[in-house]
Amino acid sequence: MTNEKMTLARLKQKKMNGEKITMLTAYDYSAATLVDQAGIDTILIGDSLGNVMLGYNSTVPVTMDEMLHHCRAVSRAVKSGFIICDMPFMSYQVSIEKAVENAGRFLKEGNCDSVKLEGGSEMAPTVNAIVKAGIPVCGHLGLTPQTATMLGGYKVQGKDAASARKILHAAKDLEEAGAFMIVFECIPDSLAARITAELNIPTIGIGAGPDCDGQVLVYHDLLGLYEKFTPKFVKQYLKLAPMIKDAIKQYKTDVETGQFPGPEHVFSMDKGEVEKL
Ligand code: KIV
Repeated sequence: MTNEKMTLARLKQKKMNGEKITMLTAYDYSAATLVDQAGIDTILIGDSLGNVMLGYNSTVPVTMDEMLHHCRAVSRAVKSGFIICDMPFMSYQVSIEKAVENAGRFLKEGNCDSVKLEGGSEMAPTVNAIVKAGIPVCGHLGLTPQTATMLGGYKVQGKDAASARKILHAAKDLEEAGAFMIVFECIPDSLAARITAELNIPTIGIGAGPDCDGQVLVYHDLLGLYEKFTPKFVKQYLKLAPMIKDAIKQYKTDVETGQFPGPEHVFSMDKGEVEKL
């Protein structure tokens, strides 16, 4: 494993060489340190932090200030991963000028390397303007959680030829607009494979099958930290939530029964000094 900083050129080269690209979310300093030290290529400060860190029911309420707060924490930790930050809902839809200004804040104030935004062909002019301002943009197609209501809920997208064609065209438009990568969420594996073969930029899948150029998961899902809901596409490598609860219960019992703190956890003072009190 190297400590070399991941670059846009290296990500593209990985696609060309058929080397898989890894992406994982992180939202705080401690988690980002572990993710980066594990050698993950790209670290996403996803607006999924609205669900797993802030307890919202969706990503819609997440604000610029909340995202920037987490970006600063993550970027203090990351030495080699390429940092991507989600632009929150309504930070890029109102006008292209506002989108460019807000994207710039993630680089200037959040220390990120790039931004990600959701949306299809209609977002191509916005993506192009942000890229022209010198800010790398990652697209996000398929199930776009910020507009899930418009999609009829959290459902697999692109299952019929017409909607699949729309996603394929959108991917090409985003590539043409200058996006450096596109995340595909919850689309059929065969559609993801076809788009991946037709694009020159890397594709990253989450519920999009094995043929994307890389994969992304939410940190809390991979580690089994979030018990509210586990999507079908998640592979849980640990079930940390029950282990953490057991450890906390053990701590409670130790305090209540006087087992903690033990002699090894105390600071002592000379007896003579105590008597002078
Ligand atoms: O917000 C997020 O974590 C994401 C991933 C699911 C791709 O956008």
